[in-house]
Amino acid sequence: MPAVRAIPITMNMSDIPPLASADLAEGHGVAVQIREQSVFVCRSGGQLYAVANRCPHASSRFEGGKLRDGVITCPLHGAKFRLSTGECLYRSLGYAPLRTFPVREVDGKVLIDLSP
Ligand code: FES
Repeated sequence: MPAVRAIPITMNMSDIPPLASADLAEGHGVAVQIREQSVFVCRSGGQLYAVANRCPHASSRFEGGKLRDGVITCPLHGAKFRLSTGECLYRSLGYAPLRTFPVREVDGKVLIDLSP
């Protein structure tokens, strides 16, 4: 049986800030630090997403990036990434995809799975 690594980030853990579903309004996102991993959690197009909070171009964080229809625009240079797959929509730039994490809502809590 595989190890369960889903992390309820509403738990009162010292390195995980509380986050409830209601904290993520449409078109908004927050960065959460889960152990050594900064994760950008957001809602766009009614869907919740979680991606590594580090742009593959020049390592910008995604706070402040524009969210629309499941796509985030990097706030530093404007590259766009599909949140469901992490792929960069400007393939000609050759940027690596963002790492994505399974995320779901259970009883008003946001759960992120950091399994590899
Ligand atoms: S750092 Fe994200 S596009 Fe340049």
